[in-house]
Amino acid sequence: MKTNVLIIGSGGREHALAWKLAQSPRIGKLYVAPGNGGTRQVAENIPIEATDIDGLVKFAEKNEIGLTVVGPDDPLALGVVDTFRLRGLRIFGPTRTAAEIESSKAFAKNLMSEANIPTATFKIFSEYNKALSYVRERGAPIVVKASGLALGKGVYVCKTLAEAEGALAEIMVDYAHKEAGNEVVVEEFLDGQEISIHVFCDGKTFVLLPPAQDHKPIHDNDEGKNTGGMGTIAPVSWVSADTLKIVGEQVVRPTIEALTKCGRPFSGLLYPGLKMTSTGLKVLEFNARFGDPETQSYMRLLKTDLLDILEACVDGTLAELAIEWNSGFAVCVVIASGGYPDEYKKGVPLRGVAEAERVSNVVMFHAGTIFENELKTSGGRVLGVSATGNTLRDALNSAYEAARLIQFEGMQYRSDIGAKALSTT
Ligand SMILES: Nc1ncnc2c1ncn2[C@@H]1O[C@H](COP(=O)(O)OP(=O)(O)O)[C@@H](O)[C@H]1O
Ligand SMILES: [Mg+2]
Repeated sequence: MKTNVLIIGSGGREHALAWKLAQSPRIGKLYVAPGNGGTRQVAENIPIEATDIDGLVKFAEKNEIGLTVVGPDDPLALGVVDTFRLRGLRIFGPTRTAAEIESSKAFAKNLMSEANIPTATFKIFSEYNKALSYVRERGAPIVVKASGLALGKGVYVCKTLAEAEGALAEIMVDYAHKEAGNEVVVEEFLDGQEISIHVFCDGKTFVLLPPAQDHKPIHDNDEGKNTGGMGTIAPVSWVSADTLKIVGEQVVRPTIEALTKCGRPFSGLLYPGLKMTSTGLKVLEFNARFGDPETQSYMRLLKTDLLDILEACVDGTLAELAIEWNSGFAVCVVIASGGYPDEYKKGVPLRGVAEAERVSNVVMFHAGTIFENELKTSGGRVLGVSATGNTLRDALNSAYEAARLIQFEGMQYRSDIGAKALSTT
């Protein structure tokens, strides 16, 4: 029996998921809502926004969707999983209350401190004056975070006290992130390398994916503003099997148990962001969905049928499934619009994409693209050039060879994706 699948979202992550699901021998019709200029090559794009829960439910019922996969965080926070389940529709992702592990940093921090999960020391505030005195008492460096979902722009890593005061004013006085800033987490600055851990969960069993590393700041050497993510590598060689075991036992297991205990069992994908500090690993935050652009690397390495895995997570049968990965490395280099992460132009024609796709071991995952007679930009992060290789260096060489063939006005990408990992080993 074939299964019709609906993927919710429009980024590179969703293109990578669609690319992989399209290869399943059991896939029926594959839809992406709303999708992008790349997803239309492997699936049918449906003009329904990711946050239009009613529209998505109606579409799933009418088109006999056997599995819906949620890409981004906002539909999860709106309760898309709860709504689908109430209607008897199968959907991959956590319920609204379980997804609060991502959508409320205050909730996540409290849960971590109750469950003894290693994380930066913190305090939570809803009053500006109290937050201000705490920041002044602690001094810089210090990190100020809007608790709610803020499009990846709610975290301020402050090197000086003046920056921290500015951050508090922006969030709590100017209301820059709206209700997402009703609560503010002020926490200790953590030094060290950052890694992304992804975990498939079915509510009881959990399975770790290989470790990945994202590159958040816009410029080389981690300079400039934070972005949604400018490139990934997987696996990260210096993260040992022992370290992964520690992550499983000291972070993932207690988190899943604590969520179950407070009546919010988690199924779907749990993605803790970690810092490897000199005093051990610490959790920066949790996400309740696949990372973007981590997914663009993971889908290139995954051997097992993704449909089998997602269904096992939904059905609670993950313990029965062996998940296999290809050997070697996968990388993704993100090509962004000029000006991103601030203002940027849209509708810029793209050149060289077909040529770049012909580079061996390269698959192009689209993010902010739209096809209107020709391929044009429609977002900040435009393309994810993914490549595989026997070594990390091989994979990076292929990705950059392809990236150099792409041309559009203002385009920018980091030239040092994976460089830190190459020099750490
Ligand atoms: N305590 C911290 N110390 C140092 N850097 C941090 C800290 N918390 C967050 N960061 C940096 O800020 C980025 C964004 O923070 P995060 O908590 O992951 O929020 P979000 O992804 O929701 O914007 C992280 O990827 C990390 O680079
Ligand atoms: Mg993050």
